[in-house]
Amino acid sequence: MKKWAIVENITVEKLVFWGKGFVRLEDGKVAFITGWAIPWSRVDIKINKKRKDFYEAQIVNVLEKSRIETESYDLFPGAPWMNIDYNEQLKIKQAQIEESMFHIKKYQEKINFLPIIAAPDQFAYRNKIEFSFGKYISHRDDIRQEFNVWFHKRGEFSKVEDYDECLLIDEIQNQIYRELKEFCKSSGLPVYDQKMNTGFWRHFMMRRMHFSEDILIVLSISPGFFQREENTDFDENASLEKIREFLKELVIKYSHIKSVYISHNSNKSDTLIWEMELVSGNEVITETLLGLTFDIGPKSFFQTNSKWAEVLYNLVKNFFLDYQNDEKIWTVLDLYAGTGTIGMIFADVADEVVSVELVEEASKSGKKNAQKNSISNVSFVNAKVEEFLGTYLDQNKKADLLIIDPPRAGMHPSALPNILKFGTRQIIYVSCNPATLSRDLWYILENSDYKIEKVQAVDMFPHTHHIETVVSLIKK
Ligand SMILES: C[S@@+](CC[C@H](N)C(=O)[O-])C[C@H]1O[C@@H](n2cnc3c(N)ncnc32)[C@H](O)[C@@H]1O
Repeated sequence: MKKWAIVENITVEKLVFWGKGFVRLEDGKVAFITGWAIPWSRVDIKINKKRKDFYEAQIVNVLEKSRIETESYDLFPGAPWMNIDYNEQLKIKQAQIEESMFHIKKYQEKINFLPIIAAPDQFAYRNKIEFSFGKYISHRDDIRQEFNVWFHKRGEFSKVEDYDECLLIDEIQNQIYRELKEFCKSSGLPVYDQKMNTGFWRHFMMRRMHFSEDILIVLSISPGFFQREENTDFDENASLEKIREFLKELVIKYSHIKSVYISHNSNKSDTLIWEMELVSGNEVITETLLGLTFDIGPKSFFQTNSKWAEVLYNLVKNFFLDYQNDEKIWTVLDLYAGTGTIGMIFADVADEVVSVELVEEASKSGKKNAQKNSISNVSFVNAKVEEFLGTYLDQNKKADLLIIDPPRAGMHPSALPNILKFGTRQIIYVSCNPATLSRDLWYILENSDYKIEKVQAVDMFPHTHHIETVVSLIKK
């Protein structure tokens, strides 16, 4: 099959990692389809790349909708599975988890896969959303205008789509978004163009915590606009003052807005957080999870689905309690800890918890959150897990439980042999990527006498391919 060849009338067999469609072609190779692939739809595809064992392709034509496509929402990048029946989404995710561990059968014939836990809220579940300002393009007609605030068009980074609401955030967030968009548009100031380094408006980020209902807003602008555009009619001070006034009016109108920032980003890089000006309210907002209170600032890492974060964290703790009964544990290592939420939840069953995290900001805010909750037996180490483990073991320090929650890339290869040296009765692995989870589990099973006790997937992000999985490993 040649590059750019069109393959007509083919059925998407299934969805695999990262929501890619999977088809088998007549030459025996498989093609992975990026884009809006849905199992059992009949499509024409174009071969974009030829690899040694497979092709990469995209859909050019949908001939027949899939039987699991029951809705007809306008699709957007944050929710590409929006039209797939929710029960079918769950089946796809469960199948992906089980399939990703297929090769592990070599070490363990029977794996106890518990059924995926469905999300209670399929809409308005995100507590954080980030929109970009950009040139507007319509998904309905061929309209092109100069201004919009939403998600980038898939595959066209310089363009932004034209929707007025996002179903993954709640109505208050949508109202604030529309008011802000209207204000920015009517200001006459142009959107920022990263390639040309021109324009003013850059990003808009909003957090609305589920339990506290607190809202935090960051509006990012390019302050260099006034210097770059020598002949502009806009006065810098007057323009900024107008923005501040508008944001303060928003705070009066929406009582849940507790923190408002302008981010003055003079750099070309596409970063939301730059020179931060607190325009109104407090530096941080708060959220309560499992009885603990957390301060969350513009930069803080926090699970984007608070309600479901509670379910995930409870699951991790119950995996421990189910297996350890009421046996006392002394030291818990909370590896890849973020702000240490999981570690803090274990503070009441351990003598000490050591939370290890790469990002300094996250470790610092973890420390503050522990103090805020009067937790004194959790310490925060700002280090790479792979380096921390070597040093910790060299000092002959012990651990009784390992909790591992790595980023998508999974564990660093040099960390894997070291986690086995502790010989803990149980390891709990939390993963956001079935592929790297299964790779790391393979290593653990091949090189130790651990076995997988159970595997439980949690659907924290309906309408997306994302899956969180919790695995309990125990000594044989
Ligand atoms: C999936 S998040 C886990 C967050 C946390 N357990 C929670 O539930 O909030 C992964 C974390 O690992 C951190 N990280 C990435 N690579 C790391 C490394 N090599 N060593 C330590 N931490 C790392 C990231 O900064 C991120 O906070």
